[in-house]
Amino acid sequence: MSAPVYRIGMLGGGTVGGGVYELLRIKQRTLPVVATAASTTAAATAAAAAAVVVVSKICVRDLTKPRDFDIDTATTALTTDPMELLSPDIDCVVEVAGGCDVAKDVVLKALELGKTVVTANKALLFEHMSTIEHVATGGAASAGGGKPQLGYEAAVCGGIPIVDVLTTGYAGDTIQSVAGICNGTTNYMLSAMAKDPSVQYADVLREAQDLGYAEADPTADVEGHDVRAKIAILAKLAFGVTVPMDKIPCTGISQITSIDFAAAKANHRCTIKLIGTAARGSTTTTVGSNPSGVCVYVTPTLVPLTNQLANVHGCGNCVTVTSKNMGQCTYAGPGAGRYPTANSIVADIYRAAAHALPTVAFPIPNSCLGSDLTVVDDYVACFFIRIPCQTPVSFAALGAIAEECGLALASIEEQDGSQLTLTTSSSSSRSAVDKFCKDVQEKLDFVTGSPLFMPILSVDEE
Ligand code: NAP
Ligand code: HSE
Repeated sequence: MSAPVYRIGMLGGGTVGGGVYELLRIKQRTLPVVATAASTTAAATAAAAAAVVVVSKICVRDLTKPRDFDIDTATTALTTDPMELLSPDIDCVVEVAGGCDVAKDVVLKALELGKTVVTANKALLFEHMSTIEHVATGGAASAGGGKPQLGYEAAVCGGIPIVDVLTTGYAGDTIQSVAGICNGTTNYMLSAMAKDPSVQYADVLREAQDLGYAEADPTADVEGHDVRAKIAILAKLAFGVTVPMDKIPCTGISQITSIDFAAAKANHRCTIKLIGTAARGSTTTTVGSNPSGVCVYVTPTLVPLTNQLANVHGCGNCVTVTSKNMGQCTYAGPGAGRYPTANSIVADIYRAAAHALPTVAFPIPNSCLGSDLTVVDDYVACFFIRIPCQTPVSFAALGAIAEECGLALASIEEQDGSQLTLTTSSSSSRSAVDKFCKDVQEKLDFVTGSPLFMPILSVDEE
């Protein structure tokens, strides 16, 4: 008797979709699904234990486009009609197309029909978090009798199983912060720029695109939007809060130049990394004295060369979770690319087939049940500021504006006659620094362009 088949309908057959297809074709011969005690019914457990996973449909935009993976036409049909993925014979919809148009329709409709959904789409999860949460919870009973399951391990930090860690590993703990490098494209670019000042931004971005790390529109990577979506998902898992886009200060790397790397190294013994942070009030360096505040933000950051984040290179990601019981735990690995991301998708598919994914899309952590956390959008740090300028410079005028903004300047250095770099005291708020930068550009004739500012990771946070 042949084994029952767990059928996948996949939206997308690009970098990630191709990897999922290849891994499943290898693994289905060697790794039968193992059901767990979480299986909802005895029948489901028995069926899952013996099932073989097969991708029976792949929906793409262009049927004539050459694919860089072999498709077994005996078991897999290509289509351009996404609605075919919703047919009754499909057990699990894997969404690896990206975007919030067709992907959103397919994901929501599949959940409404009680199908399991596995997705790598952090933009969709972030921008439609409440709707997805609502539909996943209220979806029809699935064919196996359980609730629809939603897996999204691949959406955050590629191959690092950080979603599973936060969902299951901190049940008896209280998380204080989750922070780190969550974008492979920009880490690849910043690593190259740090190593070689002559590297051109456009060239190194193209390399990251060629390696399959970047989003379809790489603006999402370089302007920090991709990290914003990921850190908001991690904030939801760590603190149970849905943080709206307009409450997440977000700066990307497009203004970073070799001057910043040189000043960071010479004056602060630091390199520059794009860091996403989600922290609650007890973390004094982030949200000051508000004990029930949660602050989520994305910013290029000066990171001491001795910090482990400074040594995460290429498409690597690295997230540190700080919690009451464990102190700091760091999770690192490949954050983008075909096989690491596909590995997370395949792990979710196997968990789904065994009914082992949570049936609540974003489980609220035990430590946050009944708590009243509010979202705040300001944080406190020591900041590095670079101001494009021409001579003569008036240090007195800069000092006066700093004072008006309530900022204490710890040092001012001239870089090469056309740039000043400043360091603030360690108790400066982001909002005060932002105001200072806007005011100096507006009021001082010797300022020739937009100032750039970044927090400096303190030794305490290492
Ligand atoms: P990709 O290489 O551009 O592949 C996208 C695939 O989706 C293509 O096969 C495309 O079809 C198909 N597609 C797009 N719009 C479609 C539509 N309206 N109807 C039918 N098919 C459509 O993208 P990717 O890098 O695999 O990324 C896919 C998703 O994974 C995104 O959400 C991304 O954020 C996420 N992700 C990517 C990585 C990574 O390292 N690349 C890592 C983690 C998460 P055609 O091939 O015919 O154009
Ligand atoms: N574009 C994303 C990155 C893909 O570079 O990290 C992984 O989510």
